[in-house]
Amino acid sequence: MHRFFIHTFTVISIVLMTLCLPAAAKNANDSFKPGEIWLDEAGTPINAHGGGILFHEGRYYWFGEHKIEGKEGNFAHVGVHCYSSEDLYRWKDEGIALKVSKNPKSDIAKGGILERPKVVYCAKTKKFVMWFHLEIGQNYSTARSAVAVADTVTGPYRFIESKRINAGFWPMNVHGRFKEPLRADETEYLKKIQMRGGPVEGYPLDMIYRRDFFDGQMARDMTVFVDDDGTAYHIYSSEENGTLHIARLTDDYLNHSGDWVRVFPGKFNEAPAIFKKNGKYFMFASGCTGWSPNAARLAVADSIMGEWTELGNPCRGTEEEKNFTFHSQSTFVIPVVGKPDTFIFMADRWNPENAIDGRYVWLPVLFDENGIPYLEWRDEWKY
Ligand code: DGJ
Repeated sequence: MHRFFIHTFTVISIVLMTLCLPAAAKNANDSFKPGEIWLDEAGTPINAHGGGILFHEGRYYWFGEHKIEGKEGNFAHVGVHCYSSEDLYRWKDEGIALKVSKNPKSDIAKGGILERPKVVYCAKTKKFVMWFHLEIGQNYSTARSAVAVADTVTGPYRFIESKRINAGFWPMNVHGRFKEPLRADETEYLKKIQMRGGPVEGYPLDMIYRRDFFDGQMARDMTVFVDDDGTAYHIYSSEENGTLHIARLTDDYLNHSGDWVRVFPGKFNEAPAIFKKNGKYFMFASGCTGWSPNAARLAVADSIMGEWTELGNPCRGTEEEKNFTFHSQSTFVIPVVGKPDTFIFMADRWNPENAIDGRYVWLPVLFDENGIPYLEWRDEWKY
């Protein structure tokens, strides 16, 4: 009788182990496979697009846009999803850190546009601060910046406000007549130009920020970067996407300080992602072609507020890989903690027809003999 039980137990154990093994093996990520479906620890595809990473007390936290199926998934129906990991390969679902609101009058009402959330930790206030690009409604016209705050890293985050930013402050890197509100003839000129978020003929290089001086600057694709001295900067596509701005945040990271600069006027950069190595600031960005990929751009500066210098396309490989950035668009650069000079280029392969199936393209940031970063395709890799 006793032997019968032992035998039955062994058989059941073997059957159970065989059934469970494939699932366990499937979820045991220990490498990056750019562009492939990436499962979290529970076996569900990770849903955190246009995201960024915060390292806090020994763990990485990945915040990104939660997308739903179909074209409707291009709008915010759920909120900002958070995952955590100790090695960047295996991710635990931490749930929705910031929920969209059921109140249609809220700035973050369900069904609007909420993109590229980035979370930073403010050591001074001991708060976690989330910035994101917000459009009220379903078209890209309001170009607002929004902020939410939490006491614990995974949230819940409390939405504070959304607005146009740096109203009443002139950029620090313009002078003389470039610090004057628009004249009547310039206002008339601007009315005639149909801006579509990408390059247009006659794009006015020095008018849009002056038009927006009183009501605040536009901000769409964005990131937040915290420097070694704890100062935080908001980097965003402004002026109808034609010009990047870099703006210093206040010490509590909840507002704009009024110090800001214009970078590459008229070059139409979006998807900015910044990192710092050996005292130099590097910025990956893309051109403005909606959800379709284009050639990446790279720039360098000795000071975050500039001067910035363009370094061209950082991608190496086939023409296709270079022209379309491995079919992806930058969102963040992850410094790997404890591994000096190790950085990960984090990008999105968007799928606007079925937004939830957008993929993640993470590649190593490589450096040439002059210390200039470049990117190359990998089917599978580890840091
Ligand atoms: C490209 C941006 O990088 C995305 O975040 C999103 O705004 C799409 N454009 C919308 O077309």
